[in-house]
Amino acid sequence: VWTVDNFEQISEKNTQLIQASLWIKKDEVVAFPTETVYGLGGNALSDQAISRIYEAKGRPSDNPLIVHIAEEGQLKELAAEIPEKARILMENFWPGPLTIIFPKGIKVSSKVTGGLDTVAVRMPDHPVALAFIKACGVPLAAPSANLSGKPSPTSAGHVFDDLSGRIPGIVDGGQTGIGVESTVVDCSVDGAVTILRPGGVTKEQLEEALGSEVGLDPAFTEKEAAPKSPGMKYTHYAPDAPFVLVDGSREFIQSLVDKARAEGRRAGVMTTAENEKFYNADAVIPAGERSRPETVAAALYDTLRTFNEAKVDVIYGEVFPKTGVGYAIMNRLEKSAGGNIVAENK
Ligand code: TXA
Ligand code: MG
Repeated sequence: VWTVDNFEQISEKNTQLIQASLWIKKDEVVAFPTETVYGLGGNALSDQAISRIYEAKGRPSDNPLIVHIAEEGQLKELAAEIPEKARILMENFWPGPLTIIFPKGIKVSSKVTGGLDTVAVRMPDHPVALAFIKACGVPLAAPSANLSGKPSPTSAGHVFDDLSGRIPGIVDGGQTGIGVESTVVDCSVDGAVTILRPGGVTKEQLEEALGSEVGLDPAFTEKEAAPKSPGMKYTHYAPDAPFVLVDGSREFIQSLVDKARAEGRRAGVMTTAENEKFYNADAVIPAGERSRPETVAAALYDTLRTFNEAKVDVIYGEVFPKTGVGYAIMNRLEKSAGGNIVAENK
């Protein structure tokens, strides 16, 4: 683990980052912090590094990776063209939690893109990530640095728990800020902009920057549609115990807890600071404050992981309004639940 402190002033000359970058130069993989979640980085232009990423995560190879850059100049060797709307989004949201899908350039291996003819690129807004990419001197392909299927890592400790012994090292930059992954938008099709994965940048923000409407991948609203972002079809963000998302009152959630406990099962509730005191269960863990959804996003994955330590048999979770970052929070919770959603009959 390479620990970097005082990183507001960090540069690519930092000795810790240079040491970590030596592994990247050997086509190995290293975990590093971004403003969303930790990424597992490897040289985006090396097939061997890409294979190592998939292997370390246990990730299906048809699920493409995001390529991370530190300077706009690096986009030239990755994208075949930069559509007008993509340019506007880059100006407004880079560096930041927005991943843009471009037509793929010829230098990009199909291993990075899972065989697609498009490539996902983002410039992260984290001083350590930017300095690390510069120290490596190449764009870094990086999925979230968790074992495939687990909640994404928001601290170096989470990465360690999942990948210790599987990767040579972790650049530790503390807790990540945003806590949910970047928004993925497709700009590769005729002037349209479509959200493939909701995230740190909201639909409202995208529409304001573009001055026009932004589409949503039909997979979000139609049960039958195949998602355009391959990663959206896999089980994700799952804690060890079954997670049940409950669209209902606190009293209703408590009744589900009581029923589980009467059957001899240990039950947990994933709640918020405002509601914590109303529940009586084997583990009651707040993920941020309901009145400030960005705090819920920041705490979400850590809270899901904490339930594993609480050794519960079932977790009941509260729902959130699907506006702003709440849309991304609900997207992740629905995936954690794997369709296990209960609604109160009102
Ligand atoms: O915030 C983030 O985006 C983090 C940090 C590390 O940057 N990364 C991340 O990567 O979440 P990952 O691999 O866990 O998720 C990448 C998502 C997947 O859903 C994948 O299917 C989609 O992006 N994706 C990548 N390339 C794509 C492409 N060419 N077309 C459509 N979807 C793509
Ligand atoms: Mg991921």
